[in-house]
Amino acid sequence: MIKVAPSILSADYLNLQRDIEKVEKDAELLHIDVMDGSFVPAISYGPNWVPQIRKISNLVLDVHLMVVNPERFVDEFADKGADIIGVHVEATPHIHRALQMIKNKGVKAEVVINPGTPVEAIKPVLYMVDQVLVMTVNPGFGGQKFLDETVKKIKQLDDIKKAEGYDFDIEIDGGVNNETVQAAAKAGATVAVAGSYVFGAENPAERIQAIKDATK
Ligand code: DX5
Ligand code: ZN
Repeated sequence: MIKVAPSILSADYLNLQRDIEKVEKDAELLHIDVMDGSFVPAISYGPNWVPQIRKISNLVLDVHLMVVNPERFVDEFADKGADIIGVHVEATPHIHRALQMIKNKGVKAEVVINPGTPVEAIKPVLYMVDQVLVMTVNPGFGGQKFLDETVKKIKQLDDIKKAEGYDFDIEIDGGVNNETVQAAAKAGATVAVAGSYVFGAENPAERIQAIKDATK
């Protein structure tokens, strides 16, 4: 069964504790989208949100850095309590260094690829990552439509994983619901981020279970 990472981007910020409590028992991770207004058009939140959230949640804190030159922020997010830090291959000429920095902090390292980026771009670093995030929308906003053409990249990664004996998780992010998750899970996705589908519902816990039930 797939693990679920609700994205707080779609939560009610003025009632964040209440919303996190709604997913705390059913989710495995909590996805924190950091946007700089440069790598992506929007600006969201920064490192200080992590220790605040840590105080009220035991979920794995999955930090997705959508920022230019993410290595500038790796140490701070690690020191502030991130459990996983994801860096985009498109955001830095030094993806290997960025991943090394994350690992040196004892934090799980994740490499991220946009819909327009081929798996080949991250092949040289797959040996060193704990998780690969395949963006299933163009990053920047919640509530977009899942891009079906990204599923073949999940399969490609799963094939490499098996052939090389790697054990990284494969995460999907964007447009995930109980329907779109099915093909992705079949192709090898092991973690599903979901924002609007989970927090847009009356009962977010039910939506998490619906994602899991769809991938049993
Ligand atoms: C998009 C973010 C996502 C976003 C997903 O740039 O990386 O994590 O919150 O939102 P939904 O699930 O609504 O597509
Ligand atoms: Zn994200």
